[in-house]
Amino acid sequence: MRLSVIGCGYLGAVHAAAMASIGHEVVGIDVDQRKVASLSKGEAPFFEPGLQEILTEGIASGRLRFTTDMSQAQGAKVHFVGVGTPQQKDGYAADLTYVNAAVDGLLPYLSAGDIVAGKSTVPVGTAAELTPRVEATGATLVWNPEFLREGFAVKDTIDPDRLVVGVPAGDPGETAADVLREVYHTAVAKDTPFIVTDLATAELVKVAANAFLATKISFINAMAEIAEVTGADVTQLADAIGHDVRIGRRFLGAGIGFGGGCLPKDIRAFSARAEELGRGESVAFLREVDAINLRRRERAVQLVLEALDGSVFKKNITVLGAAFKPHSDDIRDSPALDVAVRLHGLGAWVTITDPAAIHNAQRLHPQLNYVEDRDEALREADAIILVTEWDEYRRELTPEHAATLTRGKVVIDGRNGWDATAWRGAGWAYHGMGRP
Ligand code: UDX
Repeated sequence: MRLSVIGCGYLGAVHAAAMASIGHEVVGIDVDQRKVASLSKGEAPFFEPGLQEILTEGIASGRLRFTTDMSQAQGAKVHFVGVGTPQQKDGYAADLTYVNAAVDGLLPYLSAGDIVAGKSTVPVGTAAELTPRVEATGATLVWNPEFLREGFAVKDTIDPDRLVVGVPAGDPGETAADVLREVYHTAVAKDTPFIVTDLATAELVKVAANAFLATKISFINAMAEIAEVTGADVTQLADAIGHDVRIGRRFLGAGIGFGGGCLPKDIRAFSARAEELGRGESVAFLREVDAINLRRRERAVQLVLEALDGSVFKKNITVLGAAFKPHSDDIRDSPALDVAVRLHGLGAWVTITDPAAIHNAQRLHPQLNYVEDRDEALREADAIILVTEWDEYRRELTPEHAATLTRGKVVIDGRNGWDATAWRGAGWAYHGMGRP
């Protein structure tokens, strides 16, 4: 099938390449010439495992191309809209400028029977507002939210847990749902749950899922706060409650909390939208979820201070990680970098290392010291803090090896990723988050 994908960021670039990899003919469209040039050469403009391979394959097969020219969308049967919906500069609400621009830019090139499938995360009600403009062309607007996780974006796009499509009532909606079944033919063939619903529900599924995930993380971090004043161990607590299948162990990782381009902005936008709808109190807990999350960064800094007898001034602190999570070079709202910047602000000599995100971090915070090589970064450190649980740090760095490089033997485990007993056994002062 011929498809167009408007917006070639994390979501759109992966979607375009993934759709080409399952046999479709895809044109990716973005206003950013540099991004388009890089994608056209088969070069992934960001780090995402597996993307490089499917991009190269797609371009070589002739089924995948990228352009800045919106008119190239003409002739495609389905037009996916995957542009960003960032947090507004002066508030919590989502900025819909790019969604509106993408849809309006597409209108002149739509034909009757085309489908416009919104993928961006939007405030509930956005699709209803866009519908009249799209329907005036004879096309149908559907909402098809994406649940991909960075680091697993290719897998999550080609082989998702579920597919959700919000459609308008009546025949055009039903036809559109069938067309989307054809688009996702490989997942449908595997009996992936395919949920057809109305537009508002589809929009809400996405924000509700992210709100739930964020709440789960902040719940366990709230327990970490209680554990800290009672001598309990939040990781054992998470293991114990996680055995209850109704609760589940995943997303109960206590530590410095969540970041990234989705969860923080999505829960804020959800709060803002609920307030507009007169239902602010229904999701008032999301303000707490956000507040707990931000307190954990502060707590990590406090732990470093406590571990170094109250002052980090002129102390060498090695920060392991910069990305908001492993398998990503994304530093948007990264708790890791936030902690590093705060320590620097307190007068520490901060050295950061990360397998993928150093260059992005350096652009944003040039005042910090960046070292590519992990062992080089650890040399002469007075304290180490683990803030992004890459395997290079969590699994491969042993306390014995670290001890041959550092000056002090103080470690702060901001992700509760290390075996406390092993580090203590090797003579380190180990400090976890929410652990005695
Ligand atoms: C998230 C959702 O998982 C995904 O479904 C949605 O489409 C986009 O937002 P992503 O932002 O890629 O995906 O990252 P995710 O893996 O969810 O992690 C988010 C943050 O939570 C990271 O900073 C991570 O370190 C943190 N986290 C995750 C925890 O602090 N504890 C956990 O137990 C799990």
